Amino acid sequence: MRTTELLVCPVCGGKMSRDEKSLFCLGARRHVYDVASSGYVNLLPPGRMSNAKSGDDRTMISSRAAFLDRGYYSRFSERIGELISSLAENQGKREIALADCACGEGYHTCNITKTIVENNISPCVLGFDASKFGAERGAKRAKKVFGADVFFAAANVFSLPVADSSVDFATSIFAPVAWDEMSRILKDDGYLIVASSGERHLFELRAAIYDEPREASGVVRCADGFAALDEEVVTYKTVIASNADVMSLFSMTPFYYKTSKTDAEKLLKIDSLEVTVEVKLTVFGKK
Ligand SMILES: C[S@@+](CC[C@H](N)C(=O)[O-])C[C@H]1O[C@@H](n2cnc3c(N)ncnc32)[C@H](O)[C@@H]1O
Repeated sequence: MRTTELLVCPVCGGKMSRDEKSLFCLGARRHVYDVASSGYVNLLPPGRMSNAKSGDDRTMISSRAAFLDRGYYSRFSERIGELISSLAENQGKREIALADCACGEGYHTCNITKTIVENNISPCVLGFDASKFGAERGAKRAKKVFGADVFFAAANVFSLPVADSSVDFATSIFAPVAWDEMSRILKDDGYLIVASSGERHLFELRAAIYDEPREASGVVRCADGFAALDEEVVTYKTVIASNADVMSLFSMTPFYYKTSKTDAEKLLKIDSLEVTVEVKLTVFGKK
């Protein structure tokens, strides 16, 4: 199985083929999409989302990459890779197709992929994000992942360029869940794994900013047509080792947009911070 076989044209829904420089559809109009030198392709549907402003901007993507590259979050995406490997093994699958939806800059996509390969399962992986900067970074990361076909595209998770009933696993990590699209692209025996903030997630960062810090809500709504099959919480403490890392973490959280300048400035005085990482992993299956 190759990633190209899983893709469909975002304009006409036709099957796709590729050569070195382009992806093109096999529909009557033969729509063509350039493969960038990094390897990513812009498959955003035509219209508003196609402009450079969709998804996270370059600065947000860069700060997330800087933080994630330090490995603070590696444990929970490795756990997602383990979870996928054991679910695939229980189904007797040695080859799987995985779509990471709203994958950001591809850190978790690649980390999950490496773990699956280490478990002797062959993954064919699609990473989609509305941000072209995210997809581009992902494609660069993918060059360091061996034993898997990994493809990144700029795409809208609410209108994915993916064939019906074609993927075994979909992941949504700290991102909006496009339930209808998940239902459409997953095989009948497929699984969706949603990673969301546990109640104590980054509580110490909240406490460093706010006088009355609140816990995260931690609620994941299950849509019609899906059933929550399993849930586990990955919890550990980690020391964010420099002010630069604390600031990168802050700028990739939703607090960044909600915090007053005075509160945000409190973080400038912190050289290191021990935080709780608490991530809820919920496994959904199709009913
Ligand atoms: C909080 S970030 C999480 C990124 C990544 N999953 C991670 O955990 O590192 C949310 C991501 O969702 C993307 N996003 C938001 N709306 C989207 C949409 N409609 N389609 C695709 N991506 C979207 C943003 O560009 C951003 O990269």
